[in-house]
Amino acid sequence: MARIKLGVLVSGGGSNLQAIMDACDSKQLDAEVVFVGSDNPDAKGLDRAAKASIPSFVTDYDRIRRNYLENQGAVMLPEDFDLEDILEKQCLFPEQETGQRVQSFFRIKALAERDLLENMKPFSFDLLVLAGFMRILSPYFIDRVNRDPEKPRIMNIHPALLPSFPGLDGYADTFDYGCKVGGCTVHFVDYGEDSGPIVGQKSFDIKPEDTLETVRSKGLELEWALFPECIRLFSENRLILEQRGHKRVVRVLPPV
Ligand code: GRF
Repeated sequence: MARIKLGVLVSGGGSNLQAIMDACDSKQLDAEVVFVGSDNPDAKGLDRAAKASIPSFVTDYDRIRRNYLENQGAVMLPEDFDLEDILEKQCLFPEQETGQRVQSFFRIKALAERDLLENMKPFSFDLLVLAGFMRILSPYFIDRVNRDPEKPRIMNIHPALLPSFPGLDGYADTFDYGCKVGGCTVHFVDYGEDSGPIVGQKSFDIKPEDTLETVRSKGLELEWALFPECIRLFSENRLILEQRGHKRVVRVLPPV
């Protein structure tokens, strides 16, 4: 396969972005980062992109949400926004929950995601990498990136051994639970929260002398190795989706 193009979304420090850019530079990865996007204008990841002369943009989720609320929802939704279709697909709220709160949630998501898609439009890319992007993506966005459901192309890294501890702070949840093993997971993004098919995982021991801080730093170090490895499997066309019971899983093909 030819060198692949990566789009990367970040919300914060961007150390995973850095690890991916370094893996591209050192040819460990036959890929290039073609854009970096963020929901946070102050993300340090944006500075890392600038330093590497990679184009970047910001979709200001907070501003978009405020604007929606200030105008009591009287804002122009994307023309192709189909609330019913989204409510049917989403796996974030219980099926029977379809009231105003849930509807506003998906309307605001679609407004922000339309902006994200507009910002991404100038760039062609093979894989969209969520490298510490702290926003949930809705079916509106996912369907417009994953044009072929058999070939998902949004990859996320999560700071826990999924399916344990989905959500915002996997390392804290792992540590607070008293786990003796922690880890990180790379998975494709689906309509749920951190629930998509797992591509790869790495684990580490949690010793009695560990603190939340040491757990975070052990985990992050593994993330920097895991993410490029998983992107590499994608670039080598070695990730195949298959059905196992009720679950879609990734089968990793051996190298050719
Ligand atoms: C990582 O721990 C990632 O797993 C989580 O957020 C953190 C991002 O770190 N989702 P960085 O921005 O890549 O330094």
